[in-house]
Amino acid sequence: MLSSMRVIVFASQKGGSGKTTLSGHIAVEAERQGAGPVALIDTDPQGSLAKWWNVRKDPQPAFIQSVFSNLFYDLDSAREEGFRLVVIDTPPAVTRAISEVVSFADIVVAPTRPSPHDLRAVGPTVDIAEARGKPLIFVVNGATQRARITSEAAVALSQHGTVAPVTVHHRVDFAAAMIDGRTVMEIDPFCQSAQEVSALWTYLYERLQRADGGYRQDEGGNAASNPHNRVFGRRAAQ
Ligand SMILES: Nc1ncnc2c1ncn2[C@@H]1O[C@H](COP(=O)(O)OP(=O)(O)OP(=O)(O)O)[C@@H](O)[C@H]1O
Ligand SMILES: [Mg+2]
Repeated sequence: MLSSMRVIVFASQKGGSGKTTLSGHIAVEAERQGAGPVALIDTDPQGSLAKWWNVRKDPQPAFIQSVFSNLFYDLDSAREEGFRLVVIDTPPAVTRAISEVVSFADIVVAPTRPSPHDLRAVGPTVDIAEARGKPLIFVVNGATQRARITSEAAVALSQHGTVAPVTVHHRVDFAAAMIDGRTVMEIDPFCQSAQEVSALWTYLYERLQRADGGYRQDEGGNAASNPHNRVFGRRAAQ
């Protein structure tokens, strides 16, 4: 069990790399594996993760409605409410706001498709993680089985940082499962996609145990005096 609340931030400036898909899947898997209570935060104005959660029947993981400017207080409240893990999805951009979100991370996860365009786009995400002194973990996502570019991508990414030893392959069940607010594990816990998510969570959990805690209570905030915009629970789709 994690000793204090931990924060995973999914970030990459490349659109469509899998940030939202993996945010939702990792949060659900963490809850399933007993690392909860887990909460999700969507900082992307597109609101894809929020919309997915809104059609989800299972209330776990919880959803925290937050905005960039309130993140500090909302994370503080989450810790006080007893959440053990918060998973934050971010928009596909490189902005000061995203850099500030990363400052709350224990680990930053950058899903990256094994394509030249995605590989060329990793630089700014690496820079943000480095500037904030945060461990960055690449996850090769959307890989084709037995394609040489998958291993080439992993090698290329390893020049810039740590690459998760688990590759998430391209399978339609990732998209199909999210249509009604579920995940691949909730459709078929024994399918290959579910096993990849499980293995990825096991790896991230181990990394979180080693991380010494990027988010701390004593950073000056007082959630009780700043409850604005804090909503635990469902919200209307954006
Ligand atoms: N491993 C996968 N196999 C099949 N489809 C996937 C996989 N990962 C993601 N997708 C699909 O790719 C699309 C983009 O994924 P997702 O929305 O998670 O990316 P994103 O990084 O959050 O995008 P954005 O940058 O626009 O927020 C979605 O349609 C999603 O269902
Ligand atoms: Mg997204």
